[in-house]
Amino acid sequence: MSRIPIGIVLNGVTGRMGYRQHLVRSLLAIREAGGLPSRDGSLIWPEPVLVGRNADKLAQMAQQHGLTEWTTDLGAALARPDVQIYFDAQVTQQREKAIRAAIDAGKHVYTEKPLAEDTDAAVALCRAARAAGVKHGVVQDKLFLPGLRKLKRLIDGGFFGRILSVRGEFGYWVFEGDWQAAQRPSWNYRTADGGGIVVDMFPHWQYVLEQLFAPIRSVQATVATHIQSRVDELGQQYDATADDAAYGTFELEGGIVAQINSSWAVRVRRDELVEFQVDGTHGSAVAGLRECHVQHRGTTPKPVWNPDLPVTEPFRAQWQAVPDNEPFDNGFKVQWELFLRHVVDGADFPWDFAAGARGVQLAELGLQAAREGRRIEIPALDL
Ligand SMILES: NC(=O)c1ccc[n+]([C@@H]2O[C@H](COP(=O)([O-])OP(=O)(O)OC[C@H]3O[C@@H](n4cnc5c(N)ncnc54)[C@H](O)[C@@H]3O)[C@@H](O)[C@H]2O)c1
Repeated sequence: MSRIPIGIVLNGVTGRMGYRQHLVRSLLAIREAGGLPSRDGSLIWPEPVLVGRNADKLAQMAQQHGLTEWTTDLGAALARPDVQIYFDAQVTQQREKAIRAAIDAGKHVYTEKPLAEDTDAAVALCRAARAAGVKHGVVQDKLFLPGLRKLKRLIDGGFFGRILSVRGEFGYWVFEGDWQAAQRPSWNYRTADGGGIVVDMFPHWQYVLEQLFAPIRSVQATVATHIQSRVDELGQQYDATADDAAYGTFELEGGIVAQINSSWAVRVRRDELVEFQVDGTHGSAVAGLRECHVQHRGTTPKPVWNPDLPVTEPFRAQWQAVPDNEPFDNGFKVQWELFLRHVVDGADFPWDFAAGARGVQLAELGLQAAREGRRIEIPALDL
């Protein structure tokens, strides 16, 4: 079988997302599977070019995975004629200028979210990519989670009747770093370094709400920095200036009300780190990363409020698990495969920079709504 080698610059590959999800679980996994079949039957073969700031780390990573191509010089990597795709998993603040350089070099671009630090910059990148005629995409991994795929199947099958509301609960305790090391990078907790839970999570909620339910018409939010002092990777105390919790309300087209709590200062007493409860006239569902449970209106109990009595119903036991019915692969890998087919075969890929810009817009307007203590309508972007 003939191979179609696709050179891919992976910038920020030493980071959490760049290494684990994009290099190992996606591109190397595609190679381990023997390549990705293209439309004509040849095999798309990712050829990673590792890019970062630390030569030792890159050399070690390349050696560990049997790769030969790495550099600390992004310009040199982008000048290579055998590179077709630029991928960015750097800290968000470094993204815009690197993507612009990639577009200028005529490369297709795929990137982690958020696409840019503000809406104007995201819109400008979208226009630049379109003008250059390169293909562009943004990671929207939550759409490919088994739990949300099952939820989408329920929606497509008409399970809910009329959907009324969506309640999302995301988060877990991120350690302060003093007596136990923090499990997330410290830049996330400093506004000056591009941190904050709103810019991190609202882009995800934007595409989840829009693509599963309906376009978002308005946003309201209360944000907080609950933990104001943390300790970084080097053991140094720092002031946590960025929001670490956001309590958002979103009105969707058609009257659906969505409320999503996002927090790095909450302890988990749920089945999964994110859960969405959807209530509809005919049934309800609770979807997490992997699982999804439903309750049909025909099996809905009739509780009566009486605080004098102990709980009378086994509420959790009254839900039914939605079966897999299909294999679910890693969500990042699935989206990489779609992007590679978009580049090689011209297959559809709807998660482009325009979609990425709408995610940035929701974060920006969410922060504004919180600052000004009001509900903000979301205008259509002029793309
Ligand atoms: N899709 C998702 O679910 C998801 C989850 C987490 C993070 N992300 C996104 O991925 C990106 C990276 O996040 P991460 O958690 O992997 O972060 P990380 O700190 O683990 O990695 C950041 C990478 O950027 C590089 N970098 C380049 N310039 C830098 C600079 N000036 N300062 C610090 N690092 C610099 C680092 O070397 C490293 O390789 C962010 O944009 C974040 O929003 C996405």
